[in-house]
Amino acid sequence: MASNGPMLTERRNSAGEYLKFLHAWIRKPRQTASIVPSSPYLGRMMARQIDPQGGPVMEFGGGTGALTREILATGLPVSDLEVVEIDPTFARNLRRHFHGVKIIEAPAQSVLAEAQGGAGAYQCVISGLPLLAMSKTLQKAILAEAFKLLQPGGSFIQFTYSPRPPLADSVADALDLGVDRVGTIVRNVPPATVFRYRRAADIAAVDRPAASL
Ligand SMILES: C[S@@+](CC[C@H](N)C(=O)[O-])C[C@H]1O[C@@H](n2cnc3c(N)ncnc32)[C@H](O)[C@@H]1O
Repeated sequence: MASNGPMLTERRNSAGEYLKFLHAWIRKPRQTASIVPSSPYLGRMMARQIDPQGGPVMEFGGGTGALTREILATGLPVSDLEVVEIDPTFARNLRRHFHGVKIIEAPAQSVLAEAQGGAGAYQCVISGLPLLAMSKTLQKAILAEAFKLLQPGGSFIQFTYSPRPPLADSVADALDLGVDRVGTIVRNVPPATVFRYRRAADIAAVDRPAASL
């Protein structure tokens, strides 16, 4: 008999993920900020910013693992991925589903002490945090922490449900960050846009013609 086991399991898993998300949203609506996990299309757009051979990646706000799955699907070794999640139930489930990935149950704004790679080691931070719903003070603390983790030239990749960049201009200016739009995914509920933040100095170095280097 043809096996449809994996398909059924996948459907059951995604129904379970929706329920876990809904429960988290009921418990802490501002922290979860969405009643559904991100779609695989959105996860893939974010994961395309990673070089699977480029060294460690940190994910902020793992939730039920919708982005984690797509990050690993790029071929990045599990030992090169760490996921930060503040919610203990989500953190426990992530540990159960993603063996070999270090799950850090902590606030993203103070994760450096627990990060296995340490300062300046990460090629990319992939973030599913609800930045738009956060105060400017918290946004600044989170982005400052992310850029302590990142290598020179590293990127902070963030999705948002607004067509505008999620970080307040004053915060981006204070940290000397530049932003560009990666793309919009309509096949997500709700449609989402992905932005990439980099140090302004790194953007200028990339844009400078070779002759002037
Ligand atoms: C919108 S959900 C995104 C979940 C998942 N990445 C996705 O795209 O489906 C935001 C997640 O960030 C977590 N979170 C919120 N604030 C956080 C913080 N300061 N530090 C770490 N995780 C946080 C929430 O618990 C939740 O799991």
